[in-house]
Amino acid sequence: DGLNVRAKAAGKKYFGTEISTTVMNDANANNIAKNSQDFGQYTCENEMKFDALEPSRGTFNYANADRIVAQAQANGMLMRCHNLVWHNQVPSWVTNGHFDNATLISIMKNHIANVVGHYKGKCYAWDVVNEALNEDGTYRTSGSVWGSTIGPAYIPIAFAAAAEADPDAKLYYNDYNCDRAGAKATGAQNLIKMVKQYGAPIHGFGMQGHLTTGQVGSASQYVSNMQAFAALGVEVAFTELDIATPSSNPNFQQQATDYATIVSACKQVDACVGITTWGFTDKYTWISNSDPLPWDSNLQKKPAYTAILNAWGSS
Ligand code: G3I
Repeated sequence: DGLNVRAKAAGKKYFGTEISTTVMNDANANNIAKNSQDFGQYTCENEMKFDALEPSRGTFNYANADRIVAQAQANGMLMRCHNLVWHNQVPSWVTNGHFDNATLISIMKNHIANVVGHYKGKCYAWDVVNEALNEDGTYRTSGSVWGSTIGPAYIPIAFAAAAEADPDAKLYYNDYNCDRAGAKATGAQNLIKMVKQYGAPIHGFGMQGHLTTGQVGSASQYVSNMQAFAALGVEVAFTELDIATPSSNPNFQQQATDYATIVSACKQVDACVGITTWGFTDKYTWISNSDPLPWDSNLQKKPAYTAILNAWGSS
């Protein structure tokens, strides 16, 4: 029994976690990560990002990401592959290169062809474009070499290039603060329509789900939002779920309730294929002093673990 076993019994494809080579190098943590009863899917925390895979132009370094993919395969887990085009973790040879529009498009397409080609057949899904929107739902240009040089056209171009390199991978747009209805969620729906109008395939919307304990609200808000995306013909997933509570004064019962709310929402929507937490232990989380995950920093299960299990229902 475990989180993944219960998710599958509820009709989902997986319950998964983000993982890193740092976690893999910690034997006790990695023993938890390798348990396919709890996890049926991995996402690399940083190892598949542009700067990690193509640190200099045309030189690709797959060693760390390959290690994670190998562990996933050895344990029968799916990979959500993250990510191809994002404004963060882009190497300086790209951001400082002063490339013109046509050159930057060719750099982006070459990166996608190489990376998606390398992992062809091994990724259940690719986060093709990550965080392309401002909070008001407009396209991000400030701080994005892609948005400021190419404009929003980079988005459908990236989806078309990914489809060419691996026609079987589910191609996702992934963003935060789109978990409930609002200007940014509407922007994400417009982005999906734009990709389709261009004639490129898009199969999924990833709701990152970086949430705060006590501010999660009700399951019905997430259900209706997911249904609005599903109505556009895409599947949805929670791709980076974590629910912060201050380490100095944590409320692990409320956190457990909030995790259960998200699981219950996904369970109610057929188009929601699964949930990925952004790590599993508070020992390894990107948010400091926030204890946002289902295992504590001593690798013990917290109330959130049991709440997720129960929210999926029986196995
Ligand atoms: O690799 C360098 C290392 O060489 C250097 O010595 C060290 C010094 O700071 O930095 C290392 O890079 C860090 C990198 O993680 C790898 O550990 C960066 O500083 C740090 O900013 C980076 O943080 C990552 C963050 O994305 C970057 O935006 C987090 O680990 C990662 O969890 C986080 O993940 C993102 C998702 O990809 C997209 N959605 C939001 C989510 C949370 O921010």
